[in-house]
Amino acid sequence: MTKNIVIIEGDGIGPEVTRQSVRILNTIAEKTGNEFNFTYCLMGADAIDKTGNPLPDATIEACLNCDAILLGAIGHPKYDNDPSAKVRPEQGLLKLRKSLQLFANIRPINTYPSLHHLSPLKNKNLEGVDFIIFRELTGGIYFGKKELSEDGTKATDDCVYSKSEIERVAELAFHFAQKPERRKKLTLIDKANVLETSRLWRKTVKELSERYPGVTVDYMFVDNAAMQIIQNPKQFDVVLTENMFGDILSDEASVLSGSLGLLPSASVGKGIVLFEPIHGSYPQAAGKDIANPLGSILSAAMMLEYLGMNEEAALIREAVNWTLQNGFVTKDLDPVNFYFTSTIGELICDYVSGRIPGSVKKDNIELRKSTII
Ligand code: IPM
Ligand code: MN
Repeated sequence: MTKNIVIIEGDGIGPEVTRQSVRILNTIAEKTGNEFNFTYCLMGADAIDKTGNPLPDATIEACLNCDAILLGAIGHPKYDNDPSAKVRPEQGLLKLRKSLQLFANIRPINTYPSLHHLSPLKNKNLEGVDFIIFRELTGGIYFGKKELSEDGTKATDDCVYSKSEIERVAELAFHFAQKPERRKKLTLIDKANVLETSRLWRKTVKELSERYPGVTVDYMFVDNAAMQIIQNPKQFDVVLTENMFGDILSDEASVLSGSLGLLPSASVGKGIVLFEPIHGSYPQAAGKDIANPLGSILSAAMMLEYLGMNEEAALIREAVNWTLQNGFVTKDLDPVNFYFTSTIGELICDYVSGRIPGSVKKDNIELRKSTII
């Protein structure tokens, strides 16, 4: 089996974390006799520097003709600190989402017992946390009309949603909530006490829920949800929300896992699927080999699952758990005894290819910094 994968390394730590995923995918390919063809494409600040365009046509073209896309991260401080910049890296990502009609972003939130101590929350609130956020990705305030008055003193961003835009992402979330491994509960997060768009979300989801009698639907205002995610995160199973609320709440929810660097995501829509860690380009860490590659590696695992390679995906997850349980973690998780991005990648390759025995002497890895023979 040959799969064509587009790799967009992007900016900041994007290239170094994606590189770990690629080497793991190559290890999987070697082991299973499958083949991955990687096509490298530009997007973000990197693409602006090289072509003047945050999303060159060649990237869209390649994405439209591949089996899956793996993205690193995009963004650069030189644009963040310049509100008047006409071209921005983020435009590339937003345009890609729109061009490929990736209308749902799926972000699983799990906790790892070995990382509980890193969370500001009490252990008892973290045990058993397992929910998944369905974030609408191609509508709302992100894509509404943007205006700045001539004199530069007034700005607007329209928030627009159509019923069909809500339905298509809600259907995915309902389907997911019905899966045997889920708890059959869907929570719609909105601000229906204030926003017209939110009232349309509520009405649409309510109507749709009649087609899914096995799923219990809960409605929650976003301000309350921000608090509940911290106070009682176990209550959530499948969370459905609009674009900007989903952006904010998923960063918040990452605190439960222990680090934003751990979380993967899949963006799905009408065909092509894009996988990316939820973290940004973390420019302060770029090039230092200290960023957490697990968000990208777990995104690659989601990608393998999507490509029908369930066993290989499970093996990557097992390897990730093994690194976490044994304290092989990057600086975000342990600022004192940490391992490099590339070391974690190498350890996971070794695990996946069976070169790491069941019990491993941590000292060996410490000494060698990576490969175990
Ligand atoms: C994300 C990011 C993007 C978003 C940015 C980079 C445009 O924060 O994927 O969560 O806001 O959607
Ligand atoms: Mn975000």
